Amino acid sequence: MTYQCVLIPGDGIGPEVTDAVRRVFAAAGADTVLPKETIDSILEHHYALKGPCTTPIGGGFSSINVALRKTLNLYGAVRPVRSLDGVSTRFEDVDIIVVRENTEGLYSGIENTITEGVITSIKVATELACRRIARFAFKYASERGRKKISVFHKANIMKLSDGLFLRCAKEVHENEFPQIDYEEVIIDAGCMRLVQDPSQFDVILCENLYGDVISDLCAGLVGGLGVTPGANIGEENAVFEAVHGSAPDIAGQNLANPLAMLMSGVMMINHISDRHQDESLRAAGARIRDAYNSALVAGEKTRDLGGSLGTKEFADAIIARMSQ
Ligand code: NAI
Repeated sequence: MTYQCVLIPGDGIGPEVTDAVRRVFAAAGADTVLPKETIDSILEHHYALKGPCTTPIGGGFSSINVALRKTLNLYGAVRPVRSLDGVSTRFEDVDIIVVRENTEGLYSGIENTITEGVITSIKVATELACRRIARFAFKYASERGRKKISVFHKANIMKLSDGLFLRCAKEVHENEFPQIDYEEVIIDAGCMRLVQDPSQFDVILCENLYGDVISDLCAGLVGGLGVTPGANIGEENAVFEAVHGSAPDIAGQNLANPLAMLMSGVMMINHISDRHQDESLRAAGARIRDAYNSALVAGEKTRDLGGSLGTKEFADAIIARMSQ
């Protein structure tokens, strides 16, 4: 079977890391295609692999990333964070999935200048989106045999918006998924617990802004942004992208670790395999995963992980392992 997906290289280190992924995919027999019109293409093909896109700070155009998620209603962001053999970090047994609401909260982009020197940013919480992401997180957890969901919140202060988020999560737990353990964690204490002992957490459910921050924090537990993949999932369409941004500080220097993008690509392969019950495609994903795992264990790593390989050389090392 042939499945088409959209590849969005992004900018900064985006073209380098997506090129590395495209080459590894081709070597694994899971070729990608590059159509032109982004949204229409994704609507047509349903799956996209996206490189990071820069968003100017404090002015300029609004985030392309946020717009893409909202336009396509990719309401569930999934960011798995796992310890990797060959990547030594403070903790050895991290295995957390961060599920982030992707369409509202403070990322609704509703900001107003009330008067000179007074700004408001509006946090939007709708029952529909809160319940939808709670159901998504519990279903995702249940299908993967995960045991517990921890909802990170600040409902002690934002009693209405975070209060609604919590109420929806609690109701979905009690009415639909009582077999999965459930806890409510005030986010500041949750951050402390995460860096003290991440093994306490299984699936973390957050609204938009908290999920953005918590996924980078979790990335830091397992080796950083170079090893943390992600998916933005809606009912019909899904866009897969690394948690990291366009890293302008290292762009164009063959320094970026393409692994987070590659892992995002493997998430896409698994997602398509699940939808189409395609075992040979799933096997291609497993071959890629085995190849990058063994490369890391053998010390074939990029600079961010203490290795010496460039973006291209790391991709070459993975391709070489797949042809062994
Ligand atoms: P960033 O993730 O681009 O970089 C943070 C730090 O991590 C930098 O020191 C960078 O060199 C390093 N890093 C990131 N990815 C790496 C990789 N694959 N290999 C090795 N090192 C890596 O975050 P930053 O600097 O806050 O954002 C830069 C731009 O990216 C901003 O315009 C931001 O809006 C955008 N951004 C885009 C995202 C997306 O497209 N989904 C997500 C996050 C940020």
